[in-house]
Amino acid sequence: MDPRSARLSPQTPAGELKVYAELASWWPLWSPPEEYVEEAADLLEVLRTAAEGSARTLLELGSGGGSLAFHLKAHFALTLTDRAPGMVAVNRALNPECEHLVGDMTTLRLGRTFDRVLVYDAIMYAADRAAARATVETAVAHCRPGGAVVLVPDCVSETFEPSTECGGHDGADGRGLRYLEWCWDADPSDERYEVAYAFLLREADGTITAEQEIHREGLFRRDDWLTWLRETGCAARSVRDQWGREVFIGVRTPSP
Ligand SMILES: C[S@@+](CC[C@H](N)C(=O)[O-])C[C@H]1O[C@@H](n2cnc3c(N)ncnc32)[C@H](O)[C@@H]1O
Repeated sequence: MDPRSARLSPQTPAGELKVYAELASWWPLWSPPEEYVEEAADLLEVLRTAAEGSARTLLELGSGGGSLAFHLKAHFALTLTDRAPGMVAVNRALNPECEHLVGDMTTLRLGRTFDRVLVYDAIMYAADRAAARATVETAVAHCRPGGAVVLVPDCVSETFEPSTECGGHDGADGRGLRYLEWCWDADPSDERYEVAYAFLLREADGTITAEQEIHREGLFRRDDWLTWLRETGCAARSVRDQWGREVFIGVRTPSP
């Protein structure tokens, strides 16, 4: 294929997405902790009040480069997992005091439970119903009875809006990144939407390279998430956050 163009292709498995694999070291210049201050404060309140009893331990699935976790680690003992080893390495460097594990949110089984389980801006990578349901199962399997699962997809089909964003940062080492993110729903009759990324990456010596990648992400109805939480043993509800996102809260029913 002409390297200047990228055709929409079937979803690459997320562990193989270039931005989270060979480009993982650029994450701190794409989406650093300072961009998560308000969201983390909002989420902290949700996590604290989601269920009664202790809220000390927290497992995050798809925790990426740890920019969100950076703001939560003072409040919880964090176990941070991601499918992409390069992202786990970035996360470990930022949050060395936390536990880090490589694992897929659809299949991970650690054999222990936590007071809270969070799946934040990774959950859209569950790109079909089977993966979304499996991710909910993983989250609930790691939640103690009476604890809470909190799921925050970027959007549900009722709230989806096409969007365009740009941004990026300069590093102290002379590297810099700028990006364009373009999000649309190519086929409203399916349960996916498309996100195209274009990046300009500046090395410390001034060399610039361009990268692009298209992600296909899952788009499900509010009721789908609530149903999956209920089917896996939770009392489920959702609240809207100040950015219009649906935040799903499942409190795991104590075993009989
Ligand atoms: C947008 S990043 C998360 C950023 C993170 N919230 C942060 O604060 O740095 C999305 C992450 O989801 C991860 N991911 C995608 N599919 C996954 C899966 N099936 N299991 C685990 N992680 C997955 C990717 O590897 C990537 O690191």
